[in-house]
Amino acid sequence: GKERTLAMIKPDGVSGNYTEEIKRIIVESSFSIVREMLTQLDNEKASAFYDEHSSRSFFPDLVTYMTSGPVLVMVLEKRDAVSDWRGLIGPTDAQKAKISHPHSIRALCGKDSQSNCVHGSDSTSSAEREIKFFFDDVLSGDIASQH
Ligand code: CMP
Repeated sequence: GKERTLAMIKPDGVSGNYTEEIKRIIVESSFSIVREMLTQLDNEKASAFYDEHSSRSFFPDLVTYMTSGPVLVMVLEKRDAVSDWRGLIGPTDAQKAKISHPHSIRALCGKDSQSNCVHGSDSTSSAEREIKFFFDDVLSGDIASQH
């Protein structure tokens, strides 16, 4: 059945004017954009979103990057949305993506392992948590019923 994932165009993607091209790729890849919201993360919200990385050396820089400008968060839906969106965005390190996945979104608009233009939930359980994080009214039962 259908599945939902949380996609985000990060500050470098939004400020670099990649939003329209990324949304075109999303729609052409058979995802439905169920919800979308342009929002500005503050330190508290960015830290909470990336809590699992809070002990990593790159965490302070990650929070600075993620609060540097608006982000576009989207709920995407299709069969196998989580893994298909991860495949479409390519590897975390955009430098590597340009070599190994030249048609990926991170190859298109990312710069390196931090400034990688887009985010995608890494599992269905992360997707559920991340969708709730931004869209309070999209209930988990709603997601479960899609399977
Ligand atoms: P994302 O897929 O959103 O998940 C965690 C983010 O942390 C990642 O994209 C990057 O923006 C950042 N990140 C991951 N690994 C590194 C790293 N080695 N150095 C700097 N930033 C990183």
